[in-house]
Amino acid sequence: MPEKFLENAARLLSKARRVVILTGAGISAESGIAPFRGSGGIWSRYDPMEYATAEAFARDPGKVWRMLRELGDQIARALPNEGHRALARLEASGRFAVDVVTQNVDGLHQRAGSQSVIELHGSGRELRCASCDGRTAADALPADVALPPRCACGGILRPDVVLFGEMLPPGAFDVARRLTQAADLFMIVGTSAEVAPAASLPALARDHGARLIEINPEVTWLSERADVVLRGAAGDILPKLLAMEMGDRK
Ligand code: OAD
Repeated sequence: MPEKFLENAARLLSKARRVVILTGAGISAESGIAPFRGSGGIWSRYDPMEYATAEAFARDPGKVWRMLRELGDQIARALPNEGHRALARLEASGRFAVDVVTQNVDGLHQRAGSQSVIELHGSGRELRCASCDGRTAADALPADVALPPRCACGGILRPDVVLFGEMLPPGAFDVARRLTQAADLFMIVGTSAEVAPAASLPALARDHGARLIEINPEVTWLSERADVVLRGAAGDILPKLLAMEMGDRK
C-alpha cells in the first residue's frame, strides 16, 4: 500500500472531531476468530440458512449450537490484537469523540479498553434462556455440556446474539444512527458490509458530510465510495495510522 494513502488518511483523522468506527469480523481475524465470508469463513462450512436463522434455532437448537459452540470456543480463546488496542488508544487520547459500532459479538473492543462500544449483533459472552430470559456467562458452560444447554428453569439456553431474522438489541441501531449522523469521519474496518442494517451506516455518514476511510485487505462494494482505502490488515494499519497522525501534529 502506498505511503501516500496512509498520509491522506492521517490528514483526515487529524482534522476530525467526531469519529465513528464500524467494525466487523475482519478486525478480530488476527485474534484467531474466523470471519464469516470468503474461503475459510464460517459460512463456507455452515450454511447460514441452516445454522444461523431464528427458524433454524427453533427447529433444531442442538444443530445450531454446533456452529455457535465453534464460534464460542474461538471467542473464549481470543485476545484483543493491535487493531482493537489502537482504537482504544484513539478514544483514550481524548482528542476526538470516538465511538465503535461493532457487528462483532466477541467483546474484544471492550477488553482492549474501548469505552464506547455499540454491539449491533449482541454479545457472545452471555447466554440467554429462550424461556425465562435469565442470563449467565458463556464461559460458565462446561466444556462437555450436552447441546443444546439448558437453563435451571428447563428452557433452552442460547448466546445472546442476533440470528438472521431477529431484531437487533433494543436501541442499539438508533444510537448507532445518531452517532453516524453526527460523525465527521467514519471508518469502516474489517467488514464486507453485506448485512443490513449495519451496511447502511457508511452511506448515512456520507450523506451527513462525513469522510470515509476503509481498512480491509480485500475490495468491498464500499471501496469505490470511500475517500481513502487502506489495503491491509487492521492490526497492521491502525497502529501505523495513529502513529502517522501523531507525527502530523508535531
Ligand atoms: P465478513 O466475514 O462478511 O467480512 C469480513 C471482512 O473482513 C472481509 O471484507 C475481509 O476482507 C476483511 N478482513 C479479513 N481479515 C482482515 C484483517 N486482518 N483486517 C481487516 N479486515 C480483514 O464479516 P462481517 O462483515 O463482520 O451477522 O459480517 C457481518 C455480519 O454477517 C456478521 O456480524 C454476522 C454475519 O452473518 C450475523 O450473524 C447476524
